[in-house]
Amino acid sequence: MEDLLQKVTSLCKRRGIIFQNSEIYGGIGGFYDYGPVGVEMKNNLKRYWWKNMVDKRENVVGIDGTIITHPKVWEASGHIKGFGDEAVECKKCHARFRPEDIDGKCPKCGGTEFTEPRTYNMLFKTEVGVIEGEKATAYLRGEACQTIYLDFKNVVDSTRQQIPFGIAQIGKAFRNEITPNKFTFRTREFEQWDMQYFVHPNEMEKSFEYWKEERMNFYKKLYRKHENLRFYEHPKEKLVFYAKKAFDVEYLAPWGWAENEGIHWRGDYDLTQHSQFSGKDLSYTDPQTGEKYMPNIVETSGGVDRTFLFLLLDSYEEETLENGEIRTVLKINPEIAAYKAAVFPLVSNKPEIVNKAREIFEKLTDTKKVLWDARGNIGKRYRYQDEIGTPYCITIDYQTLEDNTVTVRDRDTMKQERVKIEDLTNL
Ligand code: GAP
Repeated sequence: MEDLLQKVTSLCKRRGIIFQNSEIYGGIGGFYDYGPVGVEMKNNLKRYWWKNMVDKRENVVGIDGTIITHPKVWEASGHIKGFGDEAVECKKCHARFRPEDIDGKCPKCGGTEFTEPRTYNMLFKTEVGVIEGEKATAYLRGEACQTIYLDFKNVVDSTRQQIPFGIAQIGKAFRNEITPNKFTFRTREFEQWDMQYFVHPNEMEKSFEYWKEERMNFYKKLYRKHENLRFYEHPKEKLVFYAKKAFDVEYLAPWGWAENEGIHWRGDYDLTQHSQFSGKDLSYTDPQTGEKYMPNIVETSGGVDRTFLFLLLDSYEEETLENGEIRTVLKINPEIAAYKAAVFPLVSNKPEIVNKAREIFEKLTDTKKVLWDARGNIGKRYRYQDEIGTPYCITIDYQTLEDNTVTVRDRDTMKQERVKIEDLTNL
Protein backbone atom coordinates (compact mmCIF):
# COMPACT_ATOMS: atom_id res chain seq x y z
CA MET A 1 0.00 0.00 0.00
CA GLU A 2 2.91 2.40 0.76
CA ASP A 3 3.69 1.73 -2.86
CA LEU A 4 0.58 3.70 -3.84
CA LEU A 5 2.08 6.87 -2.38
CA GLN A 6 5.20 6.36 -4.49
CA LYS A 7 3.14 5.74 -7.60
CA VAL A 8 1.10 8.90 -7.02
CA THR A 9 4.25 10.92 -6.28
CA SER A 10 5.81 9.75 -9.52
CA LEU A 11 2.63 10.44 -11.50
CA CYS A 12 2.57 13.97 -10.05
CA LYS A 13 6.04 14.73 -11.37
CA ARG A 14 5.55 12.93 -14.69
CA ARG A 15 2.35 14.77 -15.52
CA GLY A 16 2.94 18.21 -14.04
CA ILE A 17 0.65 17.89 -11.05
CA ILE A 18 3.09 18.53 -8.17
CA PHE A 19 6.83 19.27 -8.26
CA GLN A 20 9.33 19.39 -5.44
CA ASN A 21 10.14 23.05 -4.83
CA SER A 22 13.71 24.23 -5.74
CA GLU A 23 14.43 20.84 -7.20
CA ILE A 24 17.41 22.08 -9.26
CA TYR A 25 19.03 23.09 -5.94
CA GLY A 26 18.40 19.71 -4.40
CA GLY A 27 14.99 20.65 -3.00
CA ILE A 28 13.98 22.09 0.38
CA GLY A 29 12.18 19.93 2.92
CA GLY A 30 8.46 20.50 3.21
CA PHE A 31 7.84 22.78 0.21
CA TYR A 32 6.06 21.80 -3.00
CA ASP A 33 4.87 23.54 -6.17
CA TYR A 34 1.78 22.75 -8.20
CA GLY A 35 2.48 22.27 -11.91
CA PRO A 36 0.36 23.17 -14.96
CA VAL A 37 -2.13 20.34 -14.37
CA GLY A 38 -2.01 20.48 -10.56
CA VAL A 39 -2.79 24.18 -10.34
CA GLU A 40 -5.97 23.69 -12.38
CA MET A 41 -7.06 20.83 -10.15
CA LYS A 42 -6.23 22.67 -6.97
CA ASN A 43 -8.12 25.77 -8.11
CA ASN A 44 -11.11 23.58 -8.95
CA LEU A 45 -10.87 21.93 -5.56
CA LYS A 46 -10.87 25.28 -3.78
CA ARG A 47 -13.78 26.49 -5.90
CA TYR A 48 -15.65 23.29 -5.01
CA TRP A 49 -15.21 24.00 -1.30
CA TRP A 50 -16.17 27.64 -1.76
CA LYS A 51 -19.30 26.67 -3.64
CA ASN A 52 -20.30 24.25 -0.88
CA MET A 53 -19.36 26.42 2.06
CA VAL A 54 -20.08 29.97 0.85
CA ASP A 55 -22.07 30.22 -2.40
CA LYS A 56 -24.75 27.74 -1.36
CA ARG A 57 -25.27 29.25 2.08
CA GLU A 58 -27.00 32.50 2.81
CA ASN A 59 -25.29 32.90 6.18
CA VAL A 60 -21.65 32.22 5.35
CA VAL A 61 -19.48 34.96 3.86
CA GLY A 62 -15.84 34.89 2.80
CA ILE A 63 -12.72 36.93 3.46
CA ASP A 64 -9.15 36.84 2.22
CA GLY A 65 -6.78 37.90 4.98
CA THR A 66 -3.04 38.50 5.08
CA ILE A 67 -0.30 36.08 6.00
CA ILE A 68 1.49 38.55 8.25
CA THR A 69 -0.52 40.19 11.02
CA HIS A 70 0.19 42.31 14.07
CA PRO A 71 2.59 40.21 16.17
CA LYS A 72 0.33 40.51 19.23
CA VAL A 73 -2.18 38.28 17.46
CA TRP A 74 0.08 35.30 18.14
CA GLU A 75 0.51 36.23 21.79
CA ALA A 76 -3.25 36.42 22.17
CA SER A 77 -3.80 33.15 20.34
CA GLY A 78 -1.26 31.36 22.52
CA HIS A 79 0.99 30.38 19.61
CA ILE A 80 4.10 32.18 20.86
CA LYS A 81 3.95 30.31 24.15
CA GLY A 82 2.57 26.99 23.09
CA PHE A 83 2.73 26.16 19.38
CA GLY A 84 5.17 23.39 19.85
CA ASP A 85 6.10 20.23 18.15
CA GLU A 86 7.99 17.65 20.20
CA ALA A 87 11.21 16.30 18.77
CA VAL A 88 14.04 13.99 19.75
CA GLU A 89 17.50 14.37 18.26
CA CYS A 90 19.65 11.49 17.01
CA LYS A 91 22.93 11.70 18.96
CA LYS A 92 24.90 10.45 15.95
CA CYS A 93 23.67 12.49 12.97
CA HIS A 94 21.74 15.21 14.91
CA ALA A 95 18.64 14.82 12.72
CA ARG A 96 15.41 15.61 14.57
CA PHE A 97 12.26 13.54 14.48
CA ARG A 98 8.85 13.42 16.06
CA PRO A 99 9.04 10.72 18.75
CA GLU A 100 6.25 8.74 17.00
CA ASP A 101 8.27 8.58 13.78
CA ILE A 102 11.11 6.46 15.21
CA ASP A 103 10.68 2.79 15.88
CA GLY A 104 13.99 2.26 17.69
CA LYS A 105 16.45 3.37 15.05
CA CYS A 106 17.20 6.74 13.50
CA PRO A 107 15.42 6.77 10.09
CA LYS A 108 18.38 8.71 8.63
CA CYS A 109 21.57 7.03 9.89
CA GLY A 110 20.38 3.99 11.85
CA GLY A 111 21.70 5.41 15.17
CA THR A 112 20.04 4.12 18.31
CA GLU A 113 20.64 6.89 20.85
CA PHE A 114 18.38 9.91 21.10
CA THR A 115 18.05 12.99 23.33
CA GLU A 116 15.00 13.43 25.57
CA PRO A 117 12.03 14.99 23.69
CA ARG A 118 12.18 18.80 23.47
CA THR A 119 9.52 21.21 22.30
CA TYR A 120 10.29 23.45 19.33
CA ASN A 121 8.10 26.39 18.37
CA MET A 122 6.72 26.00 14.87
CA LEU A 123 5.99 29.66 14.09
CA PHE A 124 8.05 31.15 11.24
CA LYS A 125 9.56 34.48 12.23
CA THR A 126 10.13 37.38 9.91
CA GLU A 127 10.78 41.11 10.16
CA VAL A 128 8.60 44.03 9.15
CA GLY A 129 10.21 47.36 8.23
CA VAL A 130 13.37 48.22 6.34
CA ILE A 131 15.56 50.17 8.75
CA GLU A 132 18.07 48.05 10.68
CA GLY A 133 17.38 48.34 14.40
CA GLU A 134 13.80 49.48 13.82
CA LYS A 135 12.50 46.26 12.38
CA ALA A 136 9.68 44.57 14.23
CA THR A 137 9.51 40.83 14.62
CA ALA A 138 6.40 39.41 13.02
CA TYR A 139 5.18 35.89 12.24
CA LEU A 140 3.83 34.08 9.21
CA ARG A 141 0.44 32.85 10.31
CA GLY A 142 0.60 29.41 11.90
CA GLU A 143 -3.11 28.92 11.27
CA ALA A 144 -5.24 30.84 8.79
CA CYS A 145 -8.26 31.20 11.09
CA GLN A 146 -6.78 33.98 13.24
CA THR A 147 -7.46 36.55 10.50
CA ILE A 148 -11.12 35.56 10.63
CA TYR A 149 -11.29 36.51 14.32
CA LEU A 150 -9.52 39.79 13.57
CA ASP A 151 -12.14 40.65 10.95
CA PHE A 152 -15.15 39.39 12.91
CA LYS A 153 -16.28 42.85 14.02
CA ASN A 154 -15.68 44.36 10.57
CA VAL A 155 -17.87 41.69 9.02
CA VAL A 156 -20.66 42.25 11.56
CA ASP A 157 -20.52 46.01 10.95
CA SER A 158 -20.29 45.85 7.15
CA THR A 159 -22.70 43.07 6.14
CA ARG A 160 -26.33 42.12 6.76
CA GLN A 161 -25.27 39.02 8.71
CA GLN A 162 -26.61 38.29 12.17
CA ILE A 163 -25.59 35.50 14.49
CA PRO A 164 -25.62 32.63 13.66
CA PHE A 165 -23.34 33.15 10.68
CA GLY A 166 -20.01 31.94 9.40
CA ILE A 167 -16.86 33.45 7.94
CA ALA A 168 -14.93 31.33 5.47
CA GLN A 169 -11.42 31.64 4.14
CA ILE A 170 -8.95 29.67 2.08
CA GLY A 171 -5.37 30.68 2.67
CA LYS A 172 -1.81 29.77 3.39
CA ALA A 173 -0.49 28.75 6.77
CA PHE A 174 3.13 28.12 7.74
CA ARG A 175 4.55 25.72 10.28
CA ASN A 176 8.19 24.94 10.80
CA GLU A 177 7.44 21.23 11.06
CA ILE A 178 10.30 19.16 12.42
CA THR A 179 9.70 16.29 10.08
CA PRO A 180 7.74 17.26 7.00
CA ASN A 181 6.83 13.94 5.43
CA LYS A 182 4.58 11.78 3.29
CA PHE A 183 4.83 13.98 0.20
CA THR A 184 2.38 16.88 0.65
CA PHE A 185 0.71 15.42 3.73
CA ARG A 186 2.87 17.32 6.20
CA THR A 187 4.59 20.36 4.74
CA ARG A 188 5.90 23.67 6.05
CA GLU A 189 3.83 25.86 3.75
CA PHE A 190 0.28 24.73 3.06
CA GLU A 191 -3.24 25.96 2.52
CA GLN A 192 -6.18 25.61 4.86
CA TRP A 193 -9.87 25.91 4.19
CA ASP A 194 -11.50 27.24 7.31
CA MET A 195 -14.96 28.21 8.34
CA GLN A 196 -15.62 29.80 11.70
CA TYR A 197 -19.29 29.69 12.69
CA PHE A 198 -20.35 32.25 15.27
CA VAL A 199 -23.26 31.25 17.50
CA HIS A 200 -25.03 31.98 20.76
CA PRO A 201 -23.49 29.81 23.53
CA ASN A 202 -26.77 27.87 23.88
CA GLU A 203 -26.59 26.86 20.23
CA MET A 204 -23.11 25.32 20.37
CA GLU A 205 -24.16 21.70 20.76
CA LYS A 206 -26.59 21.84 17.83
CA SER A 207 -24.20 23.74 15.55
CA PHE A 208 -21.30 21.45 16.32
CA GLU A 209 -23.29 18.36 15.36
CA TYR A 210 -24.61 20.08 12.24
CA TRP A 211 -21.16 21.02 10.93
CA LYS A 212 -19.68 17.68 11.84
CA GLU A 213 -22.20 15.96 9.56
CA GLU A 214 -21.95 18.59 6.84
CA ARG A 215 -18.21 18.25 6.61
CA MET A 216 -18.29 14.45 6.46
CA ASN A 217 -20.89 14.67 3.68
CA PHE A 218 -18.62 17.06 1.81
CA TYR A 219 -15.78 14.55 1.80
CA LYS A 220 -18.16 11.73 0.86
CA LYS A 221 -19.16 13.68 -2.23
CA LEU A 222 -15.55 14.35 -3.10
CA TYR A 223 -13.96 10.91 -2.64
CA ARG A 224 -15.01 7.65 -4.26
CA LYS A 225 -14.02 5.24 -1.48
CA HIS A 226 -16.26 6.00 1.48
CA GLU A 227 -14.85 3.11 3.48
CA ASN A 228 -11.67 5.21 3.72
CA LEU A 229 -13.44 7.93 5.70
CA ARG A 230 -14.21 7.99 9.40
CA PHE A 231 -14.46 10.28 12.40
CA TYR A 232 -11.86 10.23 15.13
CA GLU A 233 -13.02 11.65 18.43
CA HIS A 234 -10.32 13.33 20.50
CA PRO A 235 -10.19 11.81 23.99
CA LYS A 236 -11.68 14.11 26.65
CA GLU A 237 -8.43 14.25 28.67
CA LYS A 238 -6.51 15.55 25.64
CA LEU A 239 -8.87 18.42 24.78
CA VAL A 240 -7.75 22.03 25.26
CA PHE A 241 -9.42 23.55 28.30
CA TYR A 242 -12.06 25.52 26.34
CA ALA A 243 -13.13 22.62 24.09
CA LYS A 244 -16.03 20.39 25.00
CA LYS A 245 -15.29 18.08 22.09
CA ALA A 246 -13.24 17.75 18.91
CA PHE A 247 -13.49 15.41 15.96
CA ASP A 248 -11.23 14.79 13.01
CA VAL A 249 -12.42 13.62 9.63
CA GLU A 250 -9.82 10.97 8.88
CA TYR A 251 -8.83 9.36 5.60
CA LEU A 252 -7.27 5.92 5.36
CA ALA A 253 -3.94 6.78 3.73
CA PRO A 254 -1.46 4.07 2.66
CA TRP A 255 0.36 4.57 6.00
CA GLY A 256 -2.80 4.41 8.15
CA TRP A 257 -5.66 6.66 9.29
CA ALA A 258 -4.66 10.29 8.92
CA GLU A 259 -6.23 13.65 9.76
CA ASN A 260 -7.95 15.43 6.91
CA GLU A 261 -9.93 18.09 8.76
CA GLY A 262 -10.71 19.12 12.33
CA ILE A 263 -14.12 20.13 13.67
CA HIS A 264 -13.35 22.11 16.78
CA TRP A 265 -15.33 23.50 19.69
CA ARG A 266 -13.56 26.83 20.25
CA GLY A 267 -16.19 28.31 22.57
CA ASP A 268 -15.60 31.99 23.32
CA TYR A 269 -11.84 31.54 23.69
CA ASP A 270 -10.65 33.34 20.55
CA LEU A 271 -12.84 36.42 20.73
CA THR A 272 -12.23 36.76 24.49
CA GLN A 273 -8.45 36.56 24.02
CA HIS A 274 -8.45 39.11 21.21
CA SER A 275 -10.73 41.41 23.21
CA GLN A 276 -8.29 41.28 26.12
CA PHE A 277 -5.09 41.70 24.11
CA SER A 278 -6.42 44.41 21.78
CA GLY A 279 -8.52 46.26 24.34
CA LYS A 280 -11.45 46.24 21.86
CA ASP A 281 -14.70 44.68 22.93
CA LEU A 282 -15.57 41.94 20.44
CA SER A 283 -18.84 40.92 22.08
CA TYR A 284 -22.07 40.91 20.11
CA THR A 285 -25.42 42.52 20.80
CA ASP A 286 -28.44 40.70 19.43
CA PRO A 287 -30.37 43.29 17.37
CA GLN A 288 -33.72 41.67 18.22
CA THR A 289 -33.39 40.88 21.95
CA GLY A 290 -30.69 43.36 22.93
CA GLU A 291 -28.80 40.55 24.67
CA LYS A 292 -25.04 41.15 24.78
CA TYR A 293 -22.71 38.13 24.78
CA MET A 294 -19.39 36.81 23.55
CA PRO A 295 -20.13 34.68 20.48
CA ASN A 296 -19.03 31.04 20.58
CA ILE A 297 -17.30 29.40 17.66
CA VAL A 298 -17.53 26.07 15.88
CA GLU A 299 -14.55 25.71 13.58
CA THR A 300 -14.15 23.48 10.55
CA SER A 301 -10.51 23.56 9.48
CA GLY A 302 -9.12 21.34 6.74
CA GLY A 303 -5.97 21.11 4.68
CA VAL A 304 -6.32 21.83 0.97
CA ASP A 305 -3.05 20.12 0.03
CA ARG A 306 -3.87 17.14 2.21
CA THR A 307 -7.30 16.79 0.64
CA PHE A 308 -5.67 17.07 -2.76
CA LEU A 309 -3.24 14.27 -1.92
CA PHE A 310 -6.01 12.04 -0.53
CA LEU A 311 -8.05 12.73 -3.64
CA LEU A 312 -5.21 11.53 -5.85
CA LEU A 313 -4.79 8.40 -3.72
CA ASP A 314 -8.55 7.88 -3.86
CA SER A 315 -8.67 8.24 -7.67
CA TYR A 316 -5.57 6.38 -8.78
CA GLU A 317 -6.26 3.06 -10.52
CA GLU A 318 -4.22 0.65 -12.58
CA GLU A 319 -6.29 -1.54 -14.89
CA THR A 320 -5.11 -4.45 -17.02
CA LEU A 321 -6.45 -4.17 -20.54
CA GLU A 322 -7.40 -7.06 -22.84
CA ASN A 323 -4.05 -6.86 -24.61
CA GLY A 324 -2.26 -7.18 -21.27
CA GLU A 325 -1.21 -3.53 -21.15
CA ILE A 326 -1.64 -1.66 -17.88
CA ARG A 327 -3.65 1.53 -18.00
CA THR A 328 -3.11 4.12 -15.28
CA VAL A 329 -6.20 6.23 -14.79
CA LEU A 330 -7.12 8.98 -12.37
CA LYS A 331 -10.83 8.48 -11.73
CA ILE A 332 -11.07 11.89 -10.15
CA ASN A 333 -14.32 13.74 -9.54
CA PRO A 334 -14.98 15.52 -12.89
CA GLU A 335 -15.53 18.84 -11.11
CA ILE A 336 -11.92 18.69 -9.93
CA ALA A 337 -10.35 17.36 -13.13
CA ALA A 338 -7.94 19.88 -14.67
CA TYR A 339 -9.60 19.62 -18.09
CA LYS A 340 -13.18 18.59 -18.71
CA ALA A 341 -12.33 17.28 -22.17
CA ALA A 342 -9.47 16.93 -24.61
CA VAL A 343 -9.95 17.67 -28.29
CA PHE A 344 -8.01 15.64 -30.86
CA PRO A 345 -7.85 16.02 -34.62
CA LEU A 346 -7.41 12.41 -35.75
CA VAL A 347 -4.52 13.42 -38.01
CA SER A 348 -2.49 16.60 -38.01
CA ASN A 349 -1.72 16.78 -41.73
CA LYS A 350 -5.30 17.22 -43.04
CA PRO A 351 -6.23 20.90 -42.79
CA GLU A 352 -10.00 20.21 -43.05
CA ILE A 353 -9.84 17.97 -39.99
CA VAL A 354 -7.51 20.25 -38.03
CA ASN A 355 -9.65 23.31 -38.80
CA LYS A 356 -12.85 21.55 -37.82
CA ALA A 357 -11.22 20.40 -34.58
CA ARG A 358 -9.99 23.95 -33.85
CA GLU A 359 -13.49 25.28 -34.38
CA ILE A 360 -14.89 22.78 -31.85
CA PHE A 361 -12.04 23.42 -29.42
CA GLU A 362 -12.57 27.17 -29.50
CA LYS A 363 -16.33 26.83 -29.04
CA LEU A 364 -15.82 24.62 -25.99
CA THR A 365 -13.25 26.93 -24.40
CA ASP A 366 -15.98 29.58 -24.08
CA THR A 367 -17.50 27.63 -21.21
CA LYS A 368 -15.10 24.85 -20.22
CA LYS A 369 -11.44 24.21 -19.61
CA VAL A 370 -10.43 21.88 -22.47
CA LEU A 371 -7.10 20.71 -23.79
CA TRP A 372 -5.88 20.54 -27.37
CA ASP A 373 -3.65 17.63 -28.37
CA ALA A 374 -2.57 16.77 -31.90
CA ARG A 375 0.65 14.94 -30.99
CA GLY A 376 1.33 11.23 -31.51
CA ASN A 377 -1.19 8.46 -32.08
CA ILE A 378 -4.66 8.46 -30.54
CA GLY A 379 -3.81 5.59 -28.18
CA LYS A 380 -0.98 7.59 -26.61
CA ARG A 381 -3.17 10.65 -26.34
CA TYR A 382 -5.81 8.60 -24.47
CA ARG A 383 -3.16 7.26 -22.04
CA TYR A 384 -2.00 10.78 -21.25
CA GLN A 385 -5.53 12.06 -20.62
CA ASP A 386 -6.34 9.01 -18.46
CA GLU A 387 -3.34 9.75 -16.27
CA ILE A 388 -4.46 13.31 -15.57
CA GLY A 389 -8.11 12.31 -15.19
CA THR A 390 -9.70 14.07 -18.18
CA PRO A 391 -13.31 12.77 -18.26
CA TYR A 392 -13.83 12.93 -22.06
CA CYS A 393 -11.69 12.74 -25.19
CA ILE A 394 -13.28 14.12 -28.35
CA THR A 395 -11.84 13.01 -31.70
CA ILE A 396 -12.57 14.78 -34.96
CA ASP A 397 -12.12 12.42 -37.93
CA TYR A 398 -13.10 11.95 -41.58
CA GLN A 399 -16.69 11.12 -40.69
CA THR A 400 -16.98 14.46 -38.89
CA LEU A 401 -16.56 16.23 -42.20
CA GLU A 402 -19.50 14.28 -43.60
CA ASP A 403 -22.07 14.19 -40.80
CA ASN A 404 -20.91 16.66 -38.09
CA THR A 405 -20.46 13.95 -35.46
CA VAL A 406 -17.38 13.27 -33.34
CA THR A 407 -16.15 10.33 -31.27
CA VAL A 408 -16.48 10.83 -27.54
CA ARG A 409 -14.51 8.45 -25.37
CA ASP A 410 -15.34 8.07 -21.68
CA ARG A 411 -12.40 7.99 -19.24
CA ASP A 412 -13.84 5.41 -16.85
CA THR A 413 -15.56 2.95 -19.19
CA MET A 414 -13.33 3.63 -22.24
CA LYS A 415 -16.54 3.33 -24.30
CA GLN A 416 -16.68 5.39 -27.46
CA GLU A 417 -19.79 6.83 -29.02
CA ARG A 418 -20.61 9.17 -31.87
CA VAL A 419 -22.09 12.43 -30.70
CA LYS A 420 -23.42 15.36 -32.71
CA ILE A 421 -21.22 18.44 -32.38
CA GLU A 422 -24.13 20.54 -31.13
CA ASP A 423 -24.75 18.04 -28.29
CA LEU A 424 -21.19 18.23 -26.93
CA THR A 425 -21.92 20.99 -24.46
CA ASN A 426 -24.62 18.81 -22.83
CA LEU A 427 -22.11 16.16 -21.78
N1 GAP B 1 -7.30 26.50 13.08
C1 GAP B 1 -7.25 25.16 13.48
C2 GAP B 1 -6.12 24.43 12.92
O1 GAP B 1 -5.24 24.99 12.30
P1 GAP B 1 -5.12 22.04 12.73
O2 GAP B 1 -5.74 20.72 13.08
O3 GAP B 1 -3.78 22.37 13.30
O4 GAP B 1 -6.20 23.11 13.17
C3 GAP B 1 -6.18 22.05 10.35
O5 GAP B 1 -5.05 22.18 11.16
C4 GAP B 1 -5.86 21.25 9.11
O6 GAP B 1 -4.75 21.81 8.42
C5 GAP B 1 -5.44 19.81 9.39
O7 GAP B 1 -6.58 18.97 9.53
C6 GAP B 1 -4.64 19.46 8.17
O8 GAP B 1 -5.49 19.03 7.11
C7 GAP B 1 -4.03 20.79 7.78
N2 GAP B 1 -2.61 20.82 8.21
C8 GAP B 1 -2.14 21.06 9.44
N3 GAP B 1 -0.78 21.01 9.47
C9 GAP B 1 -0.40 20.72 8.20
C10 GAP B 1 0.87 20.53 7.57
N4 GAP B 1 2.01 20.65 8.23
N5 GAP B 1 0.89 20.22 6.24
C11 GAP B 1 -0.26 20.11 5.54
N6 GAP B 1 -1.48 20.28 6.09
C12 GAP B 1 -1.56 20.58 7.40
